[in-house]
Formats: sequence, structure tokens, C-alpha cells
Amino acid sequence: MNQAVLILIKPDGLKKSLTGNILTRLSETKLEIVAAKMVRVSKELAVNHYSHLKEKPFFGEIIKYLQGELHDRKKVMALVYWGEDAIKKCRELAGATNPEEADPTSIRGSYGRITTTGVYENVIHVSSDVPDAEREIKLWFQPDEIIVDLYPTQEIVKKELRSNIWVS
Ligand code: PPS
Repeated sequence: MNQAVLILIKPDGLKKSLTGNILTRLSETKLEIVAAKMVRVSKELAVNHYSHLKEKPFFGEIIKYLQGELHDRKKVMALVYWGEDAIKKCRELAGATNPEEADPTSIRGSYGRITTTGVYENVIHVSSDVPDAEREIKLWFQPDEIIVDLYPTQEIVKKELRSNIWVS
């Protein structure tokens, strides 16, 4: 069954110059990239992304981590991969969430670490299941940023929308 999955290359992955390496590893899946962008992560976006973890003792740290405050890299690369069993394939390549438990040949096993305060810096995020993927993709991307129709949309007309255009 075709599925969509959200992948985030987190600030530690960018700081360690792992983008090309991670994308090469993910290309082994033969899945299609249907959306990709660099994102400066607001606190609101980070809190929404990890909203199910609000009660965890590491919540504050993972919000700072995703915003790039721990790595002096205030950006994340967000991608949507699409295709047969996309979630399972990407999660297998990513390895276990805990980098110490991840297969050493997986992305997290190769490049992740646990900080002295016990927070996982595991280089990438991968949606855990189909509902999670839908929630996360809708959080990170607008419909027009994705080149296939993943979820139902409605057309609206935005009036007096302020935006920047190129100076010719
Ligand atoms: S749950 O409830 O633990 O199963 O949640 P999960 O969906 O696996 O996501 C946990 C995310 O928090 C990050 N994180 C940690 N989890 C557990 N323990 C520690 N110490 C910890 N530190 C950070 C973990 O990496 C998951 O984020 P992602 O982005 O999915 O890797």
C-alpha cells in the first residue's frame, strides 16, 4: 500500500554535514520524494510536532533541539517520501529511536548520540504510523508544497495577503 511519511533531518544532522549521506541512504528505499524544504522552526511548530510528549521530562530540551538552539543551526530539512510501505522502509533505515539501541549500520546507529542530560540526538525524525504521518505532514507542509494529492483539500481565496516578491 502506498503511504506518505514525514522525514526531518534535524539540526545535528545538518551541523554534521550528513544531509547528502542521509538522502543517499534513504534513496535505497526507491521511494519518491514528493515535498522538500528547509524550515526555520518556530517554538509553536516544535511544540505542536512533539505535542504528545508534553509531560515528558525531556520535553523542553527536545523543543530547543528541534529549533536548533543546541547546535547553532536554526534549521531543519523537511521531506515527504511516498510509495509502497514508506513508513516501514524509512523507519528501518533510520534505526531505533534510542541511538544506543539502533542497529549500528542504521542512520541513527551510525550518527546519533545521547547527551549527558539523557536526550536523544538521533539526527532524523520519521513518522511512526499512518495517522501520525498525516498529522505531521499537515503540520509541516501546505497542500501546494506537495506534488501529489495526499489528503483532501479545499480551495479558498485569500484577500489582501501580504507576501514578499522578487525585486526585478
Ligand atoms: S514515546 O512516547 O516515547 O513512544 O514517543 P516517541 O513517539 O517514540 O517519541 C519520542 C521522541 O522524543 C525524543 N527523545 C526521547 N524519547 C525518549 N527518551 C528520551 N530520553 C528522549 N530524548 C529525546 C525521541 O528522539 C523521539 O523524537 P523523534 O524526533 O521521533 O526521534
